Amino acid sequence: MSDPVFSPHAFNKVAIIGLGLIGSSFARALREKGLAKNISGSARSQKTAELAEAIGVVDKAFANPADAVRDADLVFLAMPVQATESVLRAIKPALRADAIITDGGSSKGNVEAAARAVFEKIPAGFVPGHPIAGSEQSGVLAGRADLFLRHKVILTPLPETSPDALTSVRALWQAMGAEVLEMTVAKHDEVLAKTSHLPHLLAFSLVDTLARESENLDIFRYAAGGFRDFTRIAASDPVMWHDIFLANKSAVLNALQHFTDGVSELRDAIEQEDSEALLGIFTRAKVARDHFTHMLAGTAYTKTMKSKNIEFLVQAGGALNGTFRVPGDKSISHRSIMLGSIAEGVTEVSGFLEGEDALATLQAFRDMGVVIEGPNNGAVKIHGVGLHGLQAPPGAIYCGNSGTSMRLLSGILAAQAFDTVMTGDASLSKRPMERVARPLRAMGAEILTTGEKGTPPVTIKGGKALKGLHYDMPMASAQVKSCVLLAGLWAEGDTVVTEPAPTRDHTERMLRGFGYDVKVEGATVTVKGGGRLTATRIDVPADISSAAFFMVGASIAEGSDVTLQHVGLNPTRIGVINILRAMGGDLTVFNAREVGGEPVADIRIRSAKLKGIRIPEDQVPLAIDEFPSLFIAAACAEGETVLTGAEELRVKESDRIQVMADGLTTLGIKAEPTPDGIVIQGGQIGSGRVVSHGDHRIAMSFAMAALCSSGPIEIEDCANVATSFPDFTGLARRAGLHIAVTEKE
Ligand code: S3P
Repeated sequence: MSDPVFSPHAFNKVAIIGLGLIGSSFARALREKGLAKNISGSARSQKTAELAEAIGVVDKAFANPADAVRDADLVFLAMPVQATESVLRAIKPALRADAIITDGGSSKGNVEAAARAVFEKIPAGFVPGHPIAGSEQSGVLAGRADLFLRHKVILTPLPETSPDALTSVRALWQAMGAEVLEMTVAKHDEVLAKTSHLPHLLAFSLVDTLARESENLDIFRYAAGGFRDFTRIAASDPVMWHDIFLANKSAVLNALQHFTDGVSELRDAIEQEDSEALLGIFTRAKVARDHFTHMLAGTAYTKTMKSKNIEFLVQAGGALNGTFRVPGDKSISHRSIMLGSIAEGVTEVSGFLEGEDALATLQAFRDMGVVIEGPNNGAVKIHGVGLHGLQAPPGAIYCGNSGTSMRLLSGILAAQAFDTVMTGDASLSKRPMERVARPLRAMGAEILTTGEKGTPPVTIKGGKALKGLHYDMPMASAQVKSCVLLAGLWAEGDTVVTEPAPTRDHTERMLRGFGYDVKVEGATVTVKGGGRLTATRIDVPADISSAAFFMVGASIAEGSDVTLQHVGLNPTRIGVINILRAMGGDLTVFNAREVGGEPVADIRIRSAKLKGIRIPEDQVPLAIDEFPSLFIAAACAEGETVLTGAEELRVKESDRIQVMADGLTTLGIKAEPTPDGIVIQGGQIGSGRVVSHGDHRIAMSFAMAALCSSGPIEIEDCANVATSFPDFTGLARRAGLHIAVTEKE
């Protein structure tokens, strides 16, 4: 046998008191990682002690814990928590003065109390802890060296705990592969009462109740997966759990009271056949549980967690072909949830974009008490609560990457009776919010933005009566226009907005669809407060902004012929078609129709020789989101393309002028940024690695660039493509783009 290899941080002697699942797993992990030169143990049962020694889990096992801890530099308590005081009393005389003492108990308040009862002064080496790992199995034979691998360990240092001892215990758990967190004893007990102790209590109770009710245990033969999943933990160690519930009595009773209230709410809903209440509880629970599943899988559902780093690798060449439909319009999807929520009755939406931005809006309204079913393959059912039915959300509203969510919601929230705070991800947290705060303040709202630049978080004080406003918008922004119009629904009198150039008018169209009177005269829109919205049906067309990548891709890749179905062709959005046509693009619009107040058509795009143009400034607001992909078209065109009057591009999800100029330059294209636009010389796109700065449209645009490049293009930071175009890569691959995705931790 080869000599054991010890870690440089190895302890000379570790004593483990209690050799059940946790204690024996700890011993096995110490051995496997070379973290202890000698391991002694103590178990209450003679048989366990003998077995542990016989199978080599410990070097020596003792019946008396004091014998085990003699000379130990680390003591780990792994017996049931109620025994903590008696064990500490027993080992106290034998403890080395500088020994580190830690434990694995599931409740921490009583461990602290036990230590305070035994020691006049808590030893500096005392570091209470709790590995959140286990299994329904128990005993020395159930232990596993990898039990703590990728599991969390919570350390709850006391005021007396020395920083050195804390560092050693932290390093030890990390060496076993665990993730170490720190919190106070009280916080630990409150959190664990809810997330661990309560579910165990319910599982024990359900199994016992059913078992007692039935004549014999045969009933379990008919119990299917739901029962099995729910009650697995009822097979856990009874003594251990007896101790935990008594040890964490008050936090458990609080959690139980909360749960009992929830169950009686459900009971009433069933008794009264209150479908809306039932659906509300179930849909909220499903979303929360899905969120948890995503957290466990390490993927981002909302971006409060660190998201994975996704990269695209696109091989040069290829052509795009086929007939398909891109996902639903982002702007219309946001608005369908907002207006559906404040309407009276049930609004049914189809074609809803299940991207993270629109889902952030959906979640915001769920947080404000609106029952929303779905999305299920684009189908969403919103149980509107009327203009005065929103409720205070339980915490800050998280808007993720979505400027539309935050800016439009500002208008709605400014008029509510309750206070709110909205936050966003790193990109959204840099974007200007004063542009909506200023007009809302002029209407009587109390709204705060953050920092010198007036960025998120945005804090809104509720209970302010709003007054109508005549607002001349200083910039062409549909988000600002929509925000003010939405606030106008609650304001006294007329709210009138004039825009310097036409911007998307989905809010105006959809308000009408909900039966709300909206007057449009030239560049001026007027709504009167105090009306009501009536639920309707909304068919969300495919997003022209997502279609744009395929319009550009098919135009620049020789041999392409793509038909995009059911694309929304609202006249305020068709700049990309006008500009591509002006560059020589071959686009045919056919099958034009109107769906729910929005024009829709199919578009056929065939490859064409493009030429550089000076982009007319009146097209800028009509193509505002499509410039990243149009810049790729310009890079493939013959001659120079000049864009001016587009300074708004600098405050999108990234500074799209600078970021595109940087990427194009990396790929060998001459691209000169200007304060309000860019000058691009068409040429041969080369190979290289570009950074999207977390901007979905930059990532997708550079992916299309590979259709015309001389070599592969790597694109960094592409996770946010999911904000507007879930499965972009799948669809693009099926159409003919040679795109691969890599995911890095
Ligand atoms: C949007 C308006 C535009 C656009 C954004 C969506 C909307 O923003 O860029 O992607 O849904 O109202 P601005 O209003 O800032 O121009």
